[in-house]
Amino acid sequence: MSYETLRDALNSRETLIFGHRGAMARAPMNSMAAFELAGEQGADGIELDVHLSRDSQLVVIHDDTVDATTDGQGKVADMTLDQLKRLDAGAWYSDEFAGQGIPTLDEVIDAIGESLFINVEIKSPRESVDRLENRLASCVRRHNMRERIIVSCFDPVILRRVKQMMPMVLMGFLYQPDMPAAHYLPLKELWHEARHPRHDMVDEGYMRWARAQGYFVNVWTVNDPRRALQLKRLGVNSIMTDDPATIISALRQC
Ligand code: G3P
Ligand code: MG
Repeated sequence: MSYETLRDALNSRETLIFGHRGAMARAPMNSMAAFELAGEQGADGIELDVHLSRDSQLVVIHDDTVDATTDGQGKVADMTLDQLKRLDAGAWYSDEFAGQGIPTLDEVIDAIGESLFINVEIKSPRESVDRLENRLASCVRRHNMRERIIVSCFDPVILRRVKQMMPMVLMGFLYQPDMPAAHYLPLKELWHEARHPRHDMVDEGYMRWARAQGYFVNVWTVNDPRRALQLKRLGVNSIMTDDPATIISALRQC
């Protein structure tokens, strides 16, 4: 697939494949190794999670603490980039990946931004949105990535703020079944172009509704090839998976 812009790729008849936290089935989540592997496996893009460090740097890590995926302990928001960079974010997964650090968003874009689309999921809390929106906007501008990323978030308030700051960038509203009912309403005032439902919320009725609203539908997280095939037939625009190699090969055979 060789679309210059993510909007064009989503508008195509293809089902895009995004590596969830990279190719996290086969490499440490949110590591540079996982992102590069997703590309090698043929993914169209990657999904990653960002937090703000104490010194307002955008760092790529899923949890709000470093405990589960590094050899350190503590909250990401309480640590400077320098402190975060001293941690090993690969050895917890296997010796093969020892030495992988926590990447910054800048570093990931530098490494794979020209070849892969990026879904930036904001994990920072609402209180930090002032610092976050400025950092994200300048990072996207610096790398000329406006048309190659989509920003997603479970928090509609953050999403709206980021959209106001970066009107040209696609926004995806993330939600799952246990969220308040208000989150499923059209919420047109959010100005988001895509819905990011957990995949088990999607059926024919959902797709009819989403199309009538004009939304792209990007689902997560799909590791079962049969379910991926169903979702492709339902017409979702993209599938996030921990294992792009398996899902791509299953979809190719059909
Ligand atoms: O963006 C989809 C998915 O990543 C949301 O959940 O917890 O894996 O970040 P989580
Ligand atoms: Mg995520």
